[in-house]
Formats: sequence, C-alpha cells, structure tokens
Amino acid sequence: MRIAIGSDHAGLDLKIEVISVVKALGYEVHDHGTNAAQSVDYPDFGEKVSDAVSKGDADRGILICGTGIGMSIVANKFSNIRAALCNELFSAKMSRLHNDANILVLGGRIIGKDLAKEIVQTWMTTPFEGGRHSNRLEKIRLIEGRMIANAPTGRRKP
Ligand code: RB5
Repeated sequence: MRIAIGSDHAGLDLKIEVISVVKALGYEVHDHGTNAAQSVDYPDFGEKVSDAVSKGDADRGILICGTGIGMSIVANKFSNIRAALCNELFSAKMSRLHNDANILVLGGRIIGKDLAKEIVQTWMTTPFEGGRHSNRLEKIRLIEGRMIANAPTGRRKP
C-alpha cells in the first residue's frame, strides 16, 4: 500500500516519527514535505497529499499540522476524500470501521509521538466494516456528485 504523507512546519517533527512507523509496518511512503523548519502554509501540503489520494496515486494519506484542523478542512474539499482528524485512539479505530477514512489527520501540537504511533498503527491496520456503513458512504458520494454538478464553473472540486 502506498501512503502519501505531508505536514506543515508545526507537524514536521511528528511527520518524521510517523514516517518511520509507517515504513516499519511495511508500507511504501511518499513524502510530500515540508522538510524544513521554516513557516509554510498548510494548504499547500494538504493539497499535494489529498490530490495524490483523490487521483489514486496513493492508497491512503496522513496529514499533520499544529491542530490537524486546517489540514482536515483542506483534505475534505477533494473528491473521494474522507479525512478524519483523530487525536485519540477511539476515533482512529472508528474512522476506519465506520467511515472508511482514507486520510488520517493528526495535530502535531496536541499529541505526543507515542500516542501518534499507536494511532497510526491502529488506523493503518483496522479494516472498514462495510454493511450499513457502505450505504452511508454511498450517500456521501451522491452529495459530492450533486455539489460538483451544481458548482459554478471555475469553482469545481478537482
Ligand atoms: C500553523 O501555525 C498552524 O496554524 C497550523 O499548523 C494548523 O494548526 C492550522 O490548522
């Protein structure tokens, strides 16, 4: 499985930890930056990862900013993206079981690296439950389709 990973400056330290966890689990990592400590804008890195997952260039993504909020807002603008901000384990597990989340978002200024490692391990290895939850995801796809169809030209999702 190919995992696209990105952060802003506030998520960089945690991103480095997360990359080693994901590699240790045997997955292929595509690092979309940032890779320097200077201040950057989270939408630039959120876009790269979300675009890769949305287009199928990566199977799943992980995004990290200070709180995880900005990256979540960015990622959920993209078609086919179900991004879940999970700064604790229960949400990480449920976001896979019920929501089939394909992007995990973490707050680098909120959680420590040990908790982040457990969250990533849980999120990467928990399957989607399917069943009634598939119907709900289908409703989300229909909403997305209506939004794209109704959006004014030039303001459509990629
Ligand atoms: C950067 O200071 C911070 O605003 C960003 O990392 C993130 O928390 C935004 O939601």
